[in-house]
Amino acid sequence: MNKLFDKTKINQMELKNRFVRSATWEGLANPDGSCSRKIADMMLELAKGQVGLIITSHAYVSQCGQGSIRQLGIYDDRLISGYKKMVEEVHKEGSKIVLQISHAGARALAQTKDSEAFGPSSLKIKDVINCREITTSEILKMTENFKMAAVRAKKAGFDGVQLHGAHGYLLSQFLSPFFNRREDEYGGSIENRARLILEIIQAIRSELGKQFAILIKINSDDFIEGGFAQSEMVQVSALLESAGIDAVELSGGTGLKVSQYSSSRISKIDSKRKEVYYRDAAKLYKKKMSVPLILVGGIRSYEMAKELLEKNLADYISLCRPLIREPDLIKRWQEGDIKRATCISCNKCFVPTRAGEGIYCVVENQR
Ligand SMILES: Cc1cc2nc3c(=O)[nH]c(=O)nc-3n(C[C@H](O)[C@H](O)[C@H](O)COP(=O)(O)O)c2cc1C
Repeated sequence: MNKLFDKTKINQMELKNRFVRSATWEGLANPDGSCSRKIADMMLELAKGQVGLIITSHAYVSQCGQGSIRQLGIYDDRLISGYKKMVEEVHKEGSKIVLQISHAGARALAQTKDSEAFGPSSLKIKDVINCREITTSEILKMTENFKMAAVRAKKAGFDGVQLHGAHGYLLSQFLSPFFNRREDEYGGSIENRARLILEIIQAIRSELGKQFAILIKINSDDFIEGGFAQSEMVQVSALLESAGIDAVELSGGTGLKVSQYSSSRISKIDSKRKEVYYRDAAKLYKKKMSVPLILVGGIRSYEMAKELLEKNLADYISLCRPLIREPDLIKRWQEGDIKRATCISCNKCFVPTRAGEGIYCVVENQR
Protein backbone atom coordinates (compact mmCIF):
# COMPACT_ATOMS: atom_id res chain seq x y z
CA MET A 1 0.00 0.00 0.00
CA ASN A 2 1.29 3.47 -0.83
CA LYS A 3 1.68 5.35 2.42
CA LEU A 4 3.54 8.34 1.02
CA PHE A 5 0.48 10.54 0.91
CA ASP A 6 -1.09 9.38 4.17
CA LYS A 7 -2.29 12.06 6.55
CA THR A 8 -0.48 11.68 9.87
CA LYS A 9 0.22 13.58 13.05
CA ILE A 10 3.41 14.40 14.92
CA ASN A 11 2.22 15.59 18.30
CA GLN A 12 -0.53 18.09 17.34
CA MET A 13 0.95 18.78 13.94
CA GLU A 14 -1.31 17.44 11.19
CA LEU A 15 0.69 16.52 8.12
CA LYS A 16 -0.75 16.02 4.65
CA ASN A 17 1.93 13.60 3.51
CA ARG A 18 5.13 11.96 4.69
CA PHE A 19 7.58 14.22 2.89
CA VAL A 20 9.90 16.50 4.82
CA ARG A 21 12.23 19.22 3.61
CA SER A 22 15.35 18.64 5.65
CA ALA A 23 16.94 21.77 7.13
CA THR A 24 18.91 23.62 4.47
CA TRP A 25 21.03 26.72 5.09
CA GLU A 26 20.07 29.10 2.27
CA GLY A 27 22.58 31.90 3.01
CA LEU A 28 19.78 34.39 2.45
CA ALA A 29 18.99 35.74 5.91
CA ASN A 30 19.50 39.44 6.58
CA PRO A 31 22.89 40.25 8.12
CA ASP A 32 21.37 40.35 11.64
CA GLY A 33 19.88 36.86 11.17
CA SER A 34 16.33 38.08 10.59
CA CYS A 35 14.15 36.30 8.06
CA SER A 36 14.26 37.84 4.58
CA ARG A 37 11.58 37.95 1.89
CA LYS A 38 13.79 35.68 -0.25
CA ILE A 39 13.72 32.93 2.40
CA ALA A 40 9.96 33.34 2.86
CA ASP A 41 9.52 33.03 -0.92
CA MET A 42 11.56 29.83 -0.92
CA MET A 43 9.48 28.31 1.87
CA LEU A 44 6.30 29.32 0.05
CA GLU A 45 7.57 27.63 -3.10
CA LEU A 46 8.25 24.44 -1.14
CA ALA A 47 4.77 24.58 0.38
CA LYS A 48 3.23 25.07 -3.07
CA GLY A 49 5.36 22.12 -4.15
CA GLN A 50 3.42 20.00 -1.61
CA VAL A 51 6.17 19.39 0.97
CA GLY A 52 4.18 18.25 4.02
CA LEU A 53 6.66 19.43 6.64
CA ILE A 54 9.25 22.12 6.05
CA ILE A 55 12.20 22.33 8.44
CA THR A 56 13.88 25.72 8.18
CA SER A 57 17.63 26.16 7.96
CA HIS A 58 19.47 26.16 11.28
CA ALA A 59 18.82 29.31 13.28
CA TYR A 60 21.35 30.34 15.94
CA VAL A 61 20.03 30.61 19.48
CA SER A 62 22.69 33.08 20.60
CA GLN A 63 24.95 35.31 18.59
CA CYS A 64 28.10 33.38 19.47
CA GLY A 65 26.43 30.29 17.99
CA GLN A 66 26.33 31.49 14.40
CA GLY A 67 27.97 28.92 12.13
CA SER A 68 27.47 30.24 8.62
CA ILE A 69 27.17 33.54 6.79
CA ARG A 70 23.70 34.97 6.19
CA GLN A 71 22.30 32.33 8.55
CA LEU A 72 18.93 32.68 10.24
CA GLY A 73 18.94 33.70 13.92
CA ILE A 74 16.42 33.41 16.74
CA TYR A 75 18.48 34.93 19.56
CA ASP A 76 16.30 37.97 20.29
CA ASP A 77 12.58 38.82 20.53
CA ARG A 78 12.92 41.44 17.84
CA LEU A 79 13.47 38.63 15.28
CA ILE A 80 10.03 37.08 15.89
CA SER A 81 8.02 39.41 13.66
CA GLY A 82 10.19 38.64 10.60
CA TYR A 83 9.14 35.00 10.68
CA LYS A 84 5.38 35.52 11.14
CA LYS A 85 4.41 36.20 7.54
CA MET A 86 6.47 33.29 6.23
CA VAL A 87 4.81 30.88 8.66
CA GLU A 88 1.34 32.21 7.79
CA GLU A 89 1.96 31.83 4.06
CA VAL A 90 3.19 28.26 4.47
CA HIS A 91 0.14 27.39 6.59
CA LYS A 92 -2.19 28.82 3.94
CA GLU A 93 -0.80 26.27 1.48
CA GLY A 94 -1.57 23.44 3.92
CA SER A 95 2.02 22.66 4.94
CA LYS A 96 3.58 22.73 8.39
CA ILE A 97 6.83 24.40 9.33
CA VAL A 98 9.24 23.95 12.23
CA LEU A 99 12.27 26.04 13.08
CA GLN A 100 15.60 24.26 13.38
CA ILE A 101 17.41 25.74 16.38
CA SER A 102 21.13 25.46 16.71
CA HIS A 103 24.42 26.53 18.23
CA ALA A 104 27.54 25.85 16.21
CA GLY A 105 29.81 25.45 19.27
CA ALA A 106 33.35 24.65 18.20
CA ARG A 107 32.31 25.23 14.58
CA ALA A 108 31.04 28.76 15.23
CA LEU A 109 32.14 31.63 13.01
CA ALA A 110 33.61 33.11 16.21
CA GLN A 111 36.66 30.97 15.67
CA THR A 112 37.33 32.43 12.24
CA LYS A 113 36.92 35.94 13.62
CA ASP A 114 39.65 35.34 16.17
CA SER A 115 37.25 35.59 19.05
CA GLU A 116 36.56 32.58 21.16
CA ALA A 117 34.51 29.62 20.08
CA PHE A 118 33.69 27.01 22.69
CA GLY A 119 32.85 23.34 22.66
CA PRO A 120 32.27 20.71 25.34
CA SER A 121 36.07 20.46 25.74
CA SER A 122 39.00 22.53 24.63
CA LEU A 123 40.20 21.20 21.30
CA LYS A 124 42.81 22.30 18.82
CA ILE A 125 43.19 20.72 15.41
CA LYS A 126 45.32 22.86 13.12
CA ASP A 127 43.23 24.80 10.58
CA VAL A 128 40.07 22.92 11.61
CA ILE A 129 39.05 23.46 15.25
CA ASN A 130 40.25 25.85 17.90
CA CYS A 131 37.95 26.10 20.88
CA ARG A 132 37.99 26.39 24.63
CA GLU A 133 35.89 24.39 27.08
CA ILE A 134 32.42 25.73 27.85
CA THR A 135 31.90 26.37 31.58
CA THR A 136 29.09 24.85 33.67
CA SER A 137 27.37 28.22 34.06
CA GLU A 138 27.55 28.72 30.28
CA ILE A 139 25.93 25.30 29.85
CA LEU A 140 23.02 26.43 32.03
CA LYS A 141 22.77 29.62 29.99
CA MET A 142 22.78 27.50 26.81
CA THR A 143 19.71 25.60 28.03
CA GLU A 144 18.00 28.94 28.60
CA ASN A 145 19.01 30.14 25.11
CA PHE A 146 17.51 27.07 23.45
CA LYS A 147 14.37 27.39 25.58
CA MET A 148 13.94 31.05 24.64
CA ALA A 149 14.52 30.20 20.97
CA ALA A 150 11.63 27.71 21.19
CA VAL A 151 9.44 30.29 22.96
CA ARG A 152 10.13 32.77 20.15
CA ALA A 153 9.45 30.09 17.52
CA LYS A 154 6.05 29.46 19.10
CA LYS A 155 5.29 33.19 19.19
CA ALA A 156 6.17 33.41 15.49
CA GLY A 157 3.58 30.69 14.79
CA PHE A 158 5.90 27.77 14.02
CA ASP A 159 4.40 24.32 14.55
CA GLY A 160 7.41 23.20 16.53
CA VAL A 161 11.17 23.26 16.73
CA GLN A 162 13.84 20.84 15.69
CA LEU A 163 16.98 20.74 17.86
CA HIS A 164 20.05 20.50 15.66
CA GLY A 165 21.85 17.66 17.38
CA ALA A 166 23.73 16.45 14.28
CA HIS A 167 26.69 17.27 12.01
CA GLY A 168 29.23 18.26 14.65
CA TYR A 169 27.43 21.38 15.93
CA LEU A 170 27.29 22.03 19.68
CA LEU A 171 24.65 19.48 20.72
CA SER A 172 26.22 16.86 18.50
CA GLN A 173 29.64 17.76 19.97
CA PHE A 174 28.27 17.04 23.43
CA LEU A 175 27.08 13.59 22.31
CA SER A 176 30.40 12.79 20.68
CA PRO A 177 33.28 11.36 22.74
CA PHE A 178 35.62 12.84 20.13
CA PHE A 179 34.60 16.40 21.02
CA ASN A 180 33.38 15.79 24.57
CA ARG A 181 36.21 14.81 26.90
CA ARG A 182 34.65 16.31 30.03
CA GLU A 183 34.90 14.61 33.38
CA ASP A 184 31.88 16.28 35.01
CA GLU A 185 28.19 15.35 34.77
CA TYR A 186 28.11 16.47 31.09
CA GLY A 187 30.84 14.07 29.93
CA GLY A 188 31.80 10.42 30.11
CA SER A 189 28.81 8.07 30.02
CA ILE A 190 26.24 8.41 27.24
CA GLU A 191 23.67 9.58 29.82
CA ASN A 192 26.06 12.39 30.77
CA ARG A 193 26.86 13.34 27.17
CA ALA A 194 23.12 13.49 26.42
CA ARG A 195 22.39 15.54 29.57
CA LEU A 196 22.47 18.99 27.92
CA ILE A 197 20.01 17.90 25.22
CA LEU A 198 17.69 16.28 27.77
CA GLU A 199 17.78 19.40 29.95
CA ILE A 200 16.92 21.55 26.93
CA ILE A 201 13.93 19.34 26.07
CA GLN A 202 12.75 19.47 29.67
CA ALA A 203 13.13 23.26 29.78
CA ILE A 204 11.13 23.71 26.56
CA ARG A 205 8.43 21.29 27.71
CA SER A 206 7.99 22.99 31.07
CA GLU A 207 7.70 26.39 29.37
CA LEU A 208 5.56 25.44 26.33
CA GLY A 209 3.72 22.32 27.46
CA LYS A 210 3.23 18.86 26.02
CA GLN A 211 1.48 19.95 22.86
CA PHE A 212 4.33 21.86 21.25
CA ALA A 213 6.21 19.63 18.82
CA ILE A 214 9.87 19.09 19.67
CA LEU A 215 11.88 17.21 17.07
CA ILE A 216 15.59 16.49 16.94
CA LYS A 217 18.13 15.69 14.23
CA ILE A 218 20.97 13.47 15.44
CA ASN A 219 23.83 11.59 13.90
CA SER A 220 23.49 7.89 13.40
CA ASP A 221 27.29 7.91 13.38
CA ASP A 222 30.00 10.60 13.37
CA PHE A 223 32.12 8.50 11.00
CA ILE A 224 35.29 9.68 12.74
CA GLU A 225 37.64 7.69 14.92
CA GLY A 226 36.65 8.02 18.55
CA GLY A 227 33.36 9.65 17.63
CA PHE A 228 29.68 8.96 18.33
CA ALA A 229 28.76 5.55 16.93
CA GLN A 230 25.63 3.77 15.79
CA SER A 231 25.27 1.70 18.97
CA GLU A 232 25.12 4.91 21.01
CA MET A 233 22.53 6.38 18.66
CA VAL A 234 20.05 3.76 19.86
CA GLN A 235 20.82 4.50 23.52
CA VAL A 236 20.42 8.24 22.96
CA SER A 237 17.18 7.69 21.09
CA ALA A 238 15.79 5.76 24.06
CA LEU A 239 16.73 8.64 26.37
CA LEU A 240 15.09 11.09 23.98
CA GLU A 241 11.95 8.96 23.92
CA SER A 242 11.77 9.03 27.73
CA ALA A 243 12.23 12.81 27.63
CA GLY A 244 9.19 13.07 25.34
CA ILE A 245 10.74 13.87 21.96
CA ASP A 246 8.14 13.82 19.15
CA ALA A 247 10.30 12.68 16.21
CA VAL A 248 13.92 11.85 15.48
CA GLU A 249 15.64 12.65 12.17
CA LEU A 250 18.67 10.45 11.54
CA SER A 251 21.66 11.84 9.71
CA GLY A 252 25.46 11.52 10.09
CA GLY A 253 28.90 13.14 9.75
CA THR A 254 30.58 16.02 11.55
CA GLY A 255 31.68 18.56 8.96
CA LEU A 256 35.26 18.22 10.26
CA LYS A 257 36.48 17.18 6.87
CA VAL A 258 34.90 16.65 3.53
CA SER A 259 34.81 12.92 3.20
CA GLN A 260 32.69 10.18 1.75
CA TYR A 261 30.86 10.30 5.09
CA SER A 262 29.95 13.98 5.21
CA SER A 263 26.28 14.71 5.84
CA SER A 264 25.81 15.73 2.19
CA ARG A 265 27.81 13.16 0.26
CA ILE A 266 29.12 13.87 -3.22
CA SER A 267 28.24 10.91 -5.41
CA LYS A 268 25.95 10.48 -8.30
CA ILE A 269 22.99 8.40 -7.23
CA ASP A 270 21.73 6.87 -10.45
CA SER A 271 20.29 3.64 -9.14
CA LYS A 272 18.19 2.54 -6.20
CA ARG A 273 21.15 0.57 -4.86
CA LYS A 274 23.11 3.78 -4.23
CA GLU A 275 20.31 5.49 -2.29
CA VAL A 276 19.81 5.88 1.48
CA TYR A 277 22.97 6.57 3.48
CA TYR A 278 21.65 5.39 6.83
CA ARG A 279 19.64 2.27 6.00
CA ASP A 280 21.41 0.12 8.62
CA ALA A 281 20.97 2.76 11.31
CA ALA A 282 17.30 3.10 10.39
CA LYS A 283 16.86 -0.67 10.70
CA LEU A 284 18.42 -0.63 14.15
CA TYR A 285 16.37 2.37 15.22
CA LYS A 286 13.07 0.92 14.03
CA LYS A 287 13.74 -2.36 15.81
CA LYS A 288 13.90 -0.63 19.19
CA MET A 289 12.07 2.66 18.99
CA SER A 290 8.48 3.77 18.62
CA VAL A 291 9.11 7.52 18.21
CA PRO A 292 8.55 8.41 14.51
CA LEU A 293 11.69 8.29 12.38
CA ILE A 294 12.42 10.95 9.78
CA LEU A 295 15.09 9.54 7.49
CA VAL A 296 17.39 11.80 5.45
CA GLY A 297 20.42 11.28 3.26
CA GLY A 298 20.65 10.21 -0.35
CA ILE A 299 16.99 9.39 -0.94
CA ARG A 300 16.25 10.18 -4.57
CA SER A 301 13.49 8.05 -6.01
CA TYR A 302 9.78 7.71 -5.49
CA GLU A 303 10.15 3.92 -5.45
CA MET A 304 12.74 4.05 -2.68
CA ALA A 305 10.69 6.51 -0.63
CA LYS A 306 7.71 4.16 -0.92
CA GLU A 307 9.80 1.10 -0.11
CA LEU A 308 11.30 2.68 3.03
CA LEU A 309 7.79 3.16 4.39
CA GLU A 310 6.58 -0.27 3.28
CA LYS A 311 9.54 -1.99 4.92
CA ASN A 312 9.03 0.10 8.05
CA LEU A 313 12.51 1.61 7.80
CA ALA A 314 11.17 5.15 8.11
CA ASP A 315 8.00 7.05 8.96
CA TYR A 316 8.92 10.21 7.05
CA ILE A 317 11.09 10.81 3.98
CA SER A 318 13.35 13.80 4.26
CA LEU A 319 15.08 15.48 1.34
CA CYS A 320 17.48 18.38 1.07
CA ARG A 321 19.38 18.78 -2.20
CA PRO A 322 16.66 17.36 -4.47
CA LEU A 323 14.34 20.15 -3.28
CA ILE A 324 16.93 22.86 -4.02
CA ARG A 325 16.85 21.82 -7.66
CA GLU A 326 13.17 20.85 -7.80
CA PRO A 327 11.10 22.59 -5.11
CA ASP A 328 8.03 21.08 -6.80
CA LEU A 329 9.34 17.49 -6.73
CA ILE A 330 6.66 16.18 -4.37
CA LYS A 331 3.88 17.74 -6.44
CA ARG A 332 5.40 16.20 -9.56
CA TRP A 333 5.45 12.77 -7.91
CA GLN A 334 1.95 13.22 -6.54
CA GLU A 335 0.69 14.08 -10.01
CA GLY A 336 2.07 10.83 -11.40
CA ASP A 337 5.43 11.83 -12.91
CA ILE A 338 7.50 9.57 -10.68
CA LYS A 339 10.88 9.90 -12.40
CA ARG A 340 13.67 10.12 -9.84
CA ALA A 341 14.85 13.51 -8.55
CA THR A 342 17.16 15.17 -11.07
CA CYS A 343 19.65 16.29 -8.39
CA ILE A 344 23.08 14.72 -8.98
CA SER A 345 24.37 15.33 -5.41
CA CYS A 346 27.36 17.32 -6.65
CA ASN A 347 27.22 19.87 -3.77
CA LYS A 348 27.79 22.75 -6.17
CA CYS A 349 24.79 24.40 -4.47
CA PHE A 350 27.22 25.23 -1.64
CA VAL A 351 29.27 27.48 -3.96
CA PRO A 352 26.87 30.43 -4.36
CA THR A 353 25.68 29.97 -0.77
CA ARG A 354 29.19 30.30 0.66
CA ALA A 355 29.86 33.24 -1.68
CA GLY A 356 26.95 35.13 -0.12
CA GLU A 357 24.72 34.90 -3.21
CA GLY A 358 22.14 32.59 -1.68
CA ILE A 359 21.43 29.02 -2.60
CA TYR A 360 20.46 27.69 -6.01
CA CYS A 361 21.23 24.69 -8.16
CA VAL A 362 24.02 25.75 -10.50
CA VAL A 363 23.86 22.67 -12.70
CA GLU A 364 21.82 23.30 -15.81
CA ASN A 365 21.48 20.03 -17.60
CA GLN A 366 22.19 16.81 -15.90
CA ARG A 367 21.93 13.15 -16.75
C1 LIG B 1 23.42 23.65 1.13
C2 LIG B 1 23.11 22.76 2.30
C3 LIG B 1 22.76 23.33 3.50
C4 LIG B 1 22.45 22.51 4.61
N1 LIG B 1 22.04 23.10 5.77
C5 LIG B 1 21.67 22.32 6.82
C6 LIG B 1 21.13 22.89 8.01
O1 LIG B 1 20.96 24.12 8.12
N2 LIG B 1 20.80 22.05 9.01
C7 LIG B 1 20.92 20.68 8.90
O2 LIG B 1 20.58 19.96 9.84
N3 LIG B 1 21.40 20.12 7.78
C8 LIG B 1 21.75 20.89 6.74
N4 LIG B 1 22.17 20.31 5.58
C9 LIG B 1 22.18 18.82 5.46
C10 LIG B 1 20.87 18.32 4.86
O3 LIG B 1 19.76 18.66 5.66
C11 LIG B 1 20.85 16.80 4.68
O4 LIG B 1 21.02 16.18 5.95
C12 LIG B 1 21.93 16.27 3.72
O5 LIG B 1 22.12 17.15 2.62
C13 LIG B 1 21.58 14.89 3.17
O6 LIG B 1 20.34 14.88 2.50
P1 LIG B 1 20.21 14.89 0.87
O7 LIG B 1 21.01 13.73 0.38
O8 LIG B 1 18.73 14.75 0.64
O9 LIG B 1 20.77 16.18 0.40
C14 LIG B 1 22.51 21.11 4.48
C15 LIG B 1 22.86 20.55 3.25
C16 LIG B 1 23.15 21.35 2.16
C17 LIG B 1 23.48 20.71 0.83
